[in-house]
Amino acid sequence: MASPAHSQIATAPRPETSGAAPVAAHVAIIMDGNGRWATARGLPRLAGHRAGVEAVRRTIRSAVEHGVGWLTLYAFSSENWRRPAGEVLDLTGLLRHFLRSEIRELHEQGVRIRVIGDRTRFDADIQADLAGAERLTAANARLTVVVALSYGARAEIVAAARAVAAEVAAGRMDAAEITEESFAARLSTPDIPDPDLIIRTSGEQRLSNFLLWQAAYAELVFLDVLWPDFGAAHFAEALAEYARRERRFGARPG
Ligand code: FPP
Repeated sequence: MASPAHSQIATAPRPETSGAAPVAAHVAIIMDGNGRWATARGLPRLAGHRAGVEAVRRTIRSAVEHGVGWLTLYAFSSENWRRPAGEVLDLTGLLRHFLRSEIRELHEQGVRIRVIGDRTRFDADIQADLAGAERLTAANARLTVVVALSYGARAEIVAAARAVAAEVAAGRMDAAEITEESFAARLSTPDIPDPDLIIRTSGEQRLSNFLLWQAAYAELVFLDVLWPDFGAAHFAEALAEYARRERRFGARPG
């Protein structure tokens, strides 16, 4: 259970300092367009997902270079389980391979790995690798990469509601103590700041059940590039767009 201090980190709007253009502290990305990228080249979808993994590598590097502290990647949604079995196998295979081949290097770069979502739906060896990656990198402080796996925001919110309801039913909590802070502390992100910037690639303009609670004040940037083509210049472009926007968190202009 998160401490109250942690829950404040998750929900309190953080005013930007004036002067230098603000760097988004937490960038979250809906990586979309692997399939279209492959189809446009007459390749199997797996080729698109493979190229998508390369884009993940590039993006982690870019985030480190820009001094972004948190990078959340929507790698597998709870709805992705409904794809054809062969594609699910390809995606979980890529995840397995990524964890085994990349984790040392990420660790050496000072990257900390965190996972949100229902990891219990993955094979036992993948669950063990995820836990190992989190353990190995737990003390790293340069960049935290939050990997959303079998993640769905509605399920996350329902789980938090159940947790709160169970505490009230058990008499450990009063209904009046259900606040934005105490509720957010029961989401999967109690110690993770809300995203400042959410990027979606491929031209689609929707959130697709991604971080619905945490996205309350996020700036949304939709880029017309397929995920496998996403590179350092796109990352920089999205950060620049974020820096140009005036964030008021619902307050009136001063
Ligand atoms: C969307 O493309 C992408 C995904 C299904 C998830 C992102 C997956 C990767 C980047 C590869 C896996 C990497 C790791 C490290 C797990 P799409 O298939 O929905 O594309 P489409 O909309 O063009 O069909």
